[in-house]
Amino acid sequence: MSTNTYIPGAPADEADAPRVVLITGAASGIGHAAARLYTERGHRVVAVDVDKAGLDQIAEEGDAAATLVGDTADDAANEAAVALALDRFGRLDAVVLNAGIGGAGPLEAEGSLARLDRVLAVNVHGVASGIRAAIPALRATGGGAIVATSSVSGLRGDPGTWAYNASKAAIINLVRGLAVDYAAENIRINAIAPGGTVTAMTAAQVSHPVLGPELTARIPVQRWADPHEQAEAIWFLTSPAASYITGVVLPVDGGLSANGGILLEELVAADAVDETRAYSGGTGDRDDFRQHALWLWESVQDVKATITDLIAEGDRVVVYWRIEGIHQGTIFGVPGTGKAFTGNSISTITIQDGKVVRYTVLPDRLGIIKQIGGTPA
Ligand SMILES: NC(=O)c1ccc[n+]([C@@H]2O[C@H](COP(=O)([O-])OP(=O)(O)OC[C@H]3O[C@@H](n4cnc5c(N)ncnc54)[C@H](O)[C@@H]3O)[C@@H](O)[C@H]2O)c1
Repeated sequence: MSTNTYIPGAPADEADAPRVVLITGAASGIGHAAARLYTERGHRVVAVDVDKAGLDQIAEEGDAAATLVGDTADDAANEAAVALALDRFGRLDAVVLNAGIGGAGPLEAEGSLARLDRVLAVNVHGVASGIRAAIPALRATGGGAIVATSSVSGLRGDPGTWAYNASKAAIINLVRGLAVDYAAENIRINAIAPGGTVTAMTAAQVSHPVLGPELTARIPVQRWADPHEQAEAIWFLTSPAASYITGVVLPVDGGLSANGGILLEELVAADAVDETRAYSGGTGDRDDFRQHALWLWESVQDVKATITDLIAEGDRVVVYWRIEGIHQGTIFGVPGTGKAFTGNSISTITIQDGKVVRYTVLPDRLGIIKQIGGTPA
């Protein structure tokens, strides 16, 4: 029975879910989360990546995964990965073509077209080549499912990101065209379009003092995705529960692509008026703000958050925090600039005339945060 056989009423993971799954870009981020998810649910994985050290870690996690160091822009590497699946596990049921690279920079910059060629080679040629290599093995299994990782950046443009935008848009129509070609052979081909997801690729953006919060404010759910949330969407598309779905692109983006682009911060802040508390406990200058931040995160300790670091960098106060298993991010303020930001929009802190004037807890999924008690020291 192939992975496309729908069994009414059966949970996806107990029905005829994929048995042997090839995943590219499996050493990190979304691909790694997917590799984990499939092996934890009892399936076999062939993990492909250029990052040998990352693959070695996967190999240490048990024999459910076979690893291959290879560049997915190279046709021979994709063929070798399929051969490894057949050799080690005897079949291939699903393929997750997830390896990808970013490509930012102005069009007129030195070397920009060479960069474009490389981005297209990995992100587009790599996906086409991966599908081409896998088709005979999937056909031999009686059908299968392929998921490629596109991006919200394939649905529209981002500043300075034209090469990446082009490559991720190409994946979407590549998937549509090939889905049509192979549908009659019971091979389903779909794409996910992740929005901002916390991985190595986005670490610099997530932690950027200005860009991070600005990006978060544009995401309707007011937070970045965890890679596991992308992995679950991939899982769904390769499972029998998606047996009638082919040629689609599924945004997994917290509503980002549905958003017309208006910054949400104001709207959410208006909604959260009951949660807003005046901060009038001090002078609002840098040290005072630091105290306030400490108070805040000490309160959060009650809900098992830990401050991983708190630093005062020049005029900026940065608190790095984590709530185990739920959320992590930063909060920082820039006294004197009229504004303060928080990562992942747990809260906003407004500074006027160099003083913290209010602190707002956002009514997002972290209702737990609303348990914060006490008053500013
Ligand atoms: N993180 C996001 O916000 C986001 C959003 C939309 C789309 N995506 C896409 O998700 C996919 C996974 O990215 P991630 O965010 O997990 O980043 P990541 O950097 O954590 O993981 C990407 C992995 O792909 C591997 N890789 C890169 N080029 C390769 C190649 N030529 N051959 C084999 N392996 C290669 C890297 O070594 C790395 O392990 C990418 O296609 C990316 O474009 C990510």
